[in-house]
Amino acid sequence: MSCHKSYITTPIYYVNDVAHIGHAYTTIIADTLARYARLIGEDTFFLTGTDEHGQKIQEAAKKRGKATQAYADEISAKFKTLWDEFDISYDKFIRTTDADHMAGVQKAFSVMYDKGDIYKDAYKGHYCISCETFFPETQLVDGEFCPDCGKSTSIVEEESYFFKLSAYQDKLLDWYKNSPDCILPKSKRNEVIRFVEGGLNDLSITRTSFDWGVKLPKSFNDPKHVMYVWLDALMNYVTALGYGTDEKNMDFWPARVHLIGKDILRFHAIYWPAFLMSLDLPLPKHIGAHGWWTRNGEKMSKSKGNVVNPKEVADAYGLENFRYFMLREVPFGGDGDFSQRALMDRINSDLGNDLGNLLNRLIGMSGKYFEGRVECDLVEKYYKEELDEVQVSLNKLEPMLFELQLHKYLEELWRPLTVANRAIDKYQPWSMIKEGKTDETMALNGLIATILAKVSLMLHAVMPKTTNTIVNALGFDIDPNSFEKIIRNGEKLEPFVTQKREPLFPRIEEQLLVEKKPEKEVKKESKKEEKKEPDNIALIGIDQFFETSLKIGTVVEAQEVKKSKKLLLLQVDIGEEKPRQVVAGIKESYSTEDILNTQVCVVANLKPAKLMGMKSEGMLLAAKDSDGLCLIRPEKPKSVGTPIS
Ligand code: MSP
Repeated sequence: MSCHKSYITTPIYYVNDVAHIGHAYTTIIADTLARYARLIGEDTFFLTGTDEHGQKIQEAAKKRGKATQAYADEISAKFKTLWDEFDISYDKFIRTTDADHMAGVQKAFSVMYDKGDIYKDAYKGHYCISCETFFPETQLVDGEFCPDCGKSTSIVEEESYFFKLSAYQDKLLDWYKNSPDCILPKSKRNEVIRFVEGGLNDLSITRTSFDWGVKLPKSFNDPKHVMYVWLDALMNYVTALGYGTDEKNMDFWPARVHLIGKDILRFHAIYWPAFLMSLDLPLPKHIGAHGWWTRNGEKMSKSKGNVVNPKEVADAYGLENFRYFMLREVPFGGDGDFSQRALMDRINSDLGNDLGNLLNRLIGMSGKYFEGRVECDLVEKYYKEELDEVQVSLNKLEPMLFELQLHKYLEELWRPLTVANRAIDKYQPWSMIKEGKTDETMALNGLIATILAKVSLMLHAVMPKTTNTIVNALGFDIDPNSFEKIIRNGEKLEPFVTQKREPLFPRIEEQLLVEKKPEKEVKKESKKEEKKEPDNIALIGIDQFFETSLKIGTVVEAQEVKKSKKLLLLQVDIGEEKPRQVVAGIKESYSTEDILNTQVCVVANLKPAKLMGMKSEGMLLAAKDSDGLCLIRPEKPKSVGTPIS
């Protein structure tokens, strides 16, 4: 078993507001990585916490008429409670108001100063309180507004200590060049390189305009200065391990990965490594920057009333289902739009149909044919091909996880489930048993159990409790030991007896959360006279149905679309003067020969669209489940252009 050290961190969250879905996302990704690292036997330290200093926090407390520390205590406790309710497996919850953290930051300040990297000067500049950042005039929007958050900036003139960031420009560029995956996804690394190549100014790292922050070390005898919040905050990653005080956990440094949102990449990919170089500490192995969650394509904000509360979602839909959804739904680094519909689809389809049903099918078949017994001895003899196919997918998984490609990881992890479901349909155990093929039937159940066991072990970090429930039905528990045996060594499952159980993912037919509408819209709507069906029922009248023109067509030409894995370019005769050109996403299930001269159902009155630069003048009806996609076709040949009703 490996004895690697894995140090995994989330950003520390500002205490000027309570947690929303974006915070939950970062934390869930980090928790997944930490759980996986522990499962594979790595010595793991997972850090989260709260960022409590700075003008923004001081003002937020003042606005609510509270003492700053009391206010920080209150909000910090809310974050901690939420993460506890979310079963986040953090090893330490740091607060920047912790005495040992503050001592560590002071120590770092002295070390950097002694190194010659800090000097005192005067500063005049445009400051954004919300982002706690100075911006040069050239970067302001309309000469006043913050280029990052759009809020108004103010001119701040003060004496300040500066960090010689400019001295680290070349060293930083060397780091990006020599460690191609220091910033993930890689596309983000290029953005950082371009920024640094544009030149770095020295960084003002103390403030005198407010006092809610870490003071300079006493030896500086400069009591009006407090440290810049980003210096204070970034240092948490090492003070949490004892830097500057009790350094007993410093052997976890450097971090395996700092998980952050794309909005705070500059601080992590430029300032932080420069501070570390100044402190002669090694640099983190990866900085992973994820995208933003939006709501109906818009940024979430209180004033818009569109903030998604992660606790409400988890309570309504199930915490682990929510975890799965967040990680599966968007490619790491990309933005994602939150919708209950998409969440329900993931639960009903991926979790319910593909995973939950497979366990039900196993319990059903083993109960019916073998009084619940499942044995795996003959799986390899009868189903080697399926086992090999599963192994190909399993082998790809681990690197994807540590490259933070979590959506691909989960997509790949679902392939073995497809193999299992397909095997049942192909071998038809209900016929095999009638034909007296008892061994083959038992081995098929063994194959399904093996696949469920392996998928559960690899899914455990994402859905810890659910996967334990599954493997308990297969007679074992998930721990580093069972992982080593079943995943690493490919050992067979011990014989076991299944028992009937409640379905794991009951189907969800309707949205479970009532959407709060922003006030403006509520007012607008209450003025409307006509009653509308609620969105989640979405009933339509027959007239509306007939607005869609569906026709029978025959594919008269079929070509592959180069460089596309999914698309075929078709000419479909639907009884018009000339065939319609249809670009169809069916290549994974149909070859050009399969489809040529066959009949299809075409949506004929869609507005033409462009796909990979090619005009598409219709859409084919198809159905897709875990087995793949199949076209909907007439049962008997019909003349081209026949309307479907
Ligand atoms: N305190 C700083 C981090 C200091 S780390 C040394 C901070 N805090 S924050 O509370 O504003 O944001 C914390 C994290 O939440 C960031 O990674 C940010 O990207 C993430 N998110 C905040 N809103 C988000 C979305 N709407 N969507 C996804 N994540 C977003 O920045």
